[in-house]
Amino acid sequence: MGRCNACGEWNTFVEEVIQREEKSARGYGMRNAGSARPVRIPEIEPGREDRIDIHDEELNRVLGGGLVPGSLVLLGGEPGIGKSTLMLQVALKCADQKILYITGEESEQQIRMRAGRLGMGNDQCFILTENNTQSIFRHLDTLAPGIIIADSVQTLQTDAIESSAGSVSQIRECAAEMQRYAKQTGTPVFLIGHITKDGSIAGPKILEHMVDTVLQFEGDRNYGYRILRSLKNRFGSTSELGIYEMNDTGLREVSNPSEILLSHRDEPVSGIAISATVEGQRPMLIETQALVSSAVYGTPQRSTTGFDVRRLNMLLAVLEKRSGFRLGHKDVFLNIAGGIRVDDPATDLAVVAAVLSSNQDSPIDPKSCFAAEVGLSGEIRPVSKVEQRIAEANKLGFGHIFISRYNTKGLDTARYKIQVVPVAGIGEVYKKIFT
Ligand code: TYD
Ligand code: MG
Repeated sequence: MGRCNACGEWNTFVEEVIQREEKSARGYGMRNAGSARPVRIPEIEPGREDRIDIHDEELNRVLGGGLVPGSLVLLGGEPGIGKSTLMLQVALKCADQKILYITGEESEQQIRMRAGRLGMGNDQCFILTENNTQSIFRHLDTLAPGIIIADSVQTLQTDAIESSAGSVSQIRECAAEMQRYAKQTGTPVFLIGHITKDGSIAGPKILEHMVDTVLQFEGDRNYGYRILRSLKNRFGSTSELGIYEMNDTGLREVSNPSEILLSHRDEPVSGIAISATVEGQRPMLIETQALVSSAVYGTPQRSTTGFDVRRLNMLLAVLEKRSGFRLGHKDVFLNIAGGIRVDDPATDLAVVAAVLSSNQDSPIDPKSCFAAEVGLSGEIRPVSKVEQRIAEANKLGFGHIFISRYNTKGLDTARYKIQVVPVAGIGEVYKKIFT
C-alpha cells in the first residue's frame, strides 16, 4: 500500500513479520515436524508390552487386562458420579508406581480430606494443583511419574491457544498435548471429563476419536451402585463392564453384580420379567413390571411408564388373537423399573412374559431374561446385537436367556455360562416359563 489511509502520508508503511511464538519449552505443545519417517512394521521397536496392574480388578478388566503403557484413557461421567473418587482411589492403591494426580478442581486440602475418607495412604502418590499444561509438563519432566491422572480435562489450559479453559479448542489442544506426552514418554494418562445429563457431551465427546480408550462412569445418584463401561478400547473388548458400590469409605468393587440387580426381592413376584436391551451401543438389563387385573369399568385401561402404549396394545392383541389369552376385559399396567424409557423392540418378549406372569399370578424364574421382538403373527423375531445381550446377561449372572430361534445362526453359545433358549412362538415361551 503506498498511501496511509489514516494520516495521508506516502511510503510510510514498514513490513513486519509476525510469527506465532513457540511457547512450549518442550516439544509436546507443537508437533515435532519432520522427526518421523515411514518404517516397516517389523522394524518398529516392540516397546514395553506388559500391562500395568492398577490394583483395581474391575478397572483392570474394563481396560482389557490392565493399563497399556503410553495410552490415553478418557473417563467420562456426570458431575458427582464419583470419577474423582475412583481415580484418587486408583492413585492411592498403586503403591508400586509413582503417580501424579493433577487437579484443577479441588485444593490440596480437599484431596487430603478425601484421601482420609478413603482411608488409604500412599507415599508414591503426588498431588499437583495446576491448570496450565506448560507448567504441568515442567513438573512432569522433573517428577517423571509412572501414571498421570488429570482431573479434569475441562480445567486444563494451554498457552498455545488463547481461548478460555473449557472451550472446545482448549480441550482439544490440551488433550492433544497430553497424548503427545503419553506417546513420547510411554506414560499412561487418565483424563477425567464431565458429561452432561443428556449425554450430548460438550467437552469429552470431541475427544473420543483422539484417545485410546473411552470409559464411562454411570449410575443413578440415588442408588449406591455405579457402572463403569468402556465405549471404545483400542486394547481390549468393549463388552466388559465394572460395577462399584459407593459407600461412605469410597467405591467398593462388586465382583458378583447380580447381588445388586436381584437383591430387591426376597422371593419371586409375579408380573416381573427381565429384558436384555441395548441402549445406543450399550447393552443393559432392565426390569419390566406388569399388572393385569379385571377391569372395574366397561372399557379396560392400558397404561404404561417408559414403554410405548400403542406397542403394548399391539402385543396384547397378539396374545389375544394368536395365542388365545383372554385379556380383552382386563386392565393392563406396564412399568419399566428405574424410570428409564426403552424403544428397543427386543423388550417385546419380556413385556409379553411379564403380562402372562401377572395374568396367571405365577412368578418367572428371576434368573431368566428375554431378548426378542414379537411379530404380529405371534412369531418370535430375531434382534440385533444378540451376542452383546447374551454376554451382558452372562456377566450379570443370569441362568437363561430366551432369544429367537432365528438369532442362533453362527452363535457360539459354548463360550457363555448362561443357557441360551431359542424359541419360535409365544406358546412355546409360555410352556418353557411356566412348566
Ligand atoms: P466425586 O468423585 O467428587 O464425583 P465427580 O468427580 O465425578 O464429580 O464424587 C462425589 C460424590 O461421591 C459425592 O456426592 C459424595 C460421594 N462420596 C461418597 O459417597 N463416599 C466417599 O467416600 C466419597 C469420597 C465420596
Ligand atoms: Mg471431580
